Amino acid sequence: MPSSFYITTAIDYANGSPHLGHAYEKVLADVIARHARMSGRKTHFLTGLDEHGQKVQQAAQKRAIEPQVLVDEIAAVFQAMLGDLNISNDDYIRTTESRHKVVVQDFLQRLFDQGLIYKGQKTDWYSTRQEQFLTDKDRDPDGSWPEIYGEVTQTTEENYYFKLSQFQSWLVEYIKSHPDFITPRFRQNQVLEFLKEPMNDLCISRPKARLTWGIELPFDTSYVTYVWFDALTNYYSAVVDKGLWPADVHVIGKDILSPPHAVYWPCMLKALGIEPPRQLLVHGWWTVNNQKASKSSGNATDSLSVVKTYGADAFRFYLCREMVVGEDADFVVSDEKNPGRITFSSRYRQDLGNNLGNLVNRLLNMVGRNYGGSIPAAAADEDLEKNLRQLWCDSIKKYDESFAEYQVSHALEALWVFISAMNAYIEARAPWKLAKSADAADRARLDACLAHVAEGLRLVGTILTPVMPATCDKLLVNIGRPVATHFEGQLTWSAACTGSKVAEKCILFPPIEAPLETPSA
Ligand code: ME8
Ligand code: MG
Repeated sequence: MPSSFYITTAIDYANGSPHLGHAYEKVLADVIARHARMSGRKTHFLTGLDEHGQKVQQAAQKRAIEPQVLVDEIAAVFQAMLGDLNISNDDYIRTTESRHKVVVQDFLQRLFDQGLIYKGQKTDWYSTRQEQFLTDKDRDPDGSWPEIYGEVTQTTEENYYFKLSQFQSWLVEYIKSHPDFITPRFRQNQVLEFLKEPMNDLCISRPKARLTWGIELPFDTSYVTYVWFDALTNYYSAVVDKGLWPADVHVIGKDILSPPHAVYWPCMLKALGIEPPRQLLVHGWWTVNNQKASKSSGNATDSLSVVKTYGADAFRFYLCREMVVGEDADFVVSDEKNPGRITFSSRYRQDLGNNLGNLVNRLLNMVGRNYGGSIPAAAADEDLEKNLRQLWCDSIKKYDESFAEYQVSHALEALWVFISAMNAYIEARAPWKLAKSADAADRARLDACLAHVAEGLRLVGTILTPVMPATCDKLLVNIGRPVATHFEGQLTWSAACTGSKVAEKCILFPPIEAPLETPSA
């Protein structure tokens, strides 16, 4: 495994408020970045804001303010969300920054000088909402334009084109010979399917008459560059002076895989003689109560309000646990009518409160009462203890295997098998009975039980730190251990907790009186 690790998210459009999809992508990337840091990799985590384009220009016009004023406001809101979610990004790039603009212009000039950008004229269908030209392929079977394109109008325009088509066969080869480039694997087929049709060259400009809010073409100042050419370059411009390219992982949603990230971006880089990124990690879409999470309906924005009620860590856990990376998932806060249904509040109550939180409380309670708050050394080693240790080995192995493929939900599932096993262990050992016994063998079993639960919780608190950083810090400190900063040497069963002074009481997941209604669309 290379010792450095450069991970990015998509940069969010500055044309609305942050919503659940934006939050999820940051959380997923953050969990991976924190995990990489704790694994000893020199990690750089980039996120940012995509600030140019027609929609931003129009929104600013409506409010009669400068677009820069608008995007400054929006950047503050998006950055506040990063704080609320405890995101550990090392940098935040905004496409209006000059460090970005100079690189975009340098890319454009280099491609122009190589003859890979040319001027052409086209009459075409154009979607203002998607800021893209459309072809007949994009129509619905009945001939109409799908709703996602909004109003579609016909325009004739002179523009600049990037010779994308020239790179098609290289790209197909590249994807086929780099099976990890697009992950999960099934997404690759979708891209290869797209590449079966001959590609058109890519229009990379907009005349200023139509759009001024963008980066000027260095070789023709009556144009600005097209949003994707601008936006994609952020991954490179942000690290140009840091020697971190190529990126190890671009975390993106399925809607921007093909063509932007899987086609435009590698071809742009190839044309410039720059290595492609190593991997695209493509996640699915969140719905809220089975409705598409979107800016216009407001449902996805409201769903962020659970962070205030339940805390960032519970939210981070739910997102990571609930979405199988690559597939879609539905966000439901609670469902009183279906008590068996897994929802945000059921996971909070059961997985977090009853399963993990209670275990910590039981430990503190028993150690406080019977050992003056100092965790005893394990004095007995019977089958129950051996089984528990074995279950930890199985669980961490599965955790690591799943995490290596960024299947965080599967990793958490495996970890909760162990947490449940600790609860079953404590039930089987019944330390509250052992504590009443005058028998020395029972006292040894009590020692072993509390020592094992403490050690199990230390291990859980360590491996879970990237997912629930504040909660795990609290857990570890309350069992008398330092917060976890690295994994090396910390994930094998040990006697590290012996003699640690536990806190009297610790509520990791306070019961929430009235679960929030899932906001409706
Ligand atoms: O696409 N569920 O910005 P964006 C999951 N600026 N993920 C979602 C989602 C949902 N309901 N809605 C959006 C852009 N996303 C461009 C990217 S990158 C060089 C430029 C994800 O604000 C979406 O898939 O529309 C994307 O990865 C990210 O949020 C930003 O979306
Ligand atoms: Mg979008």
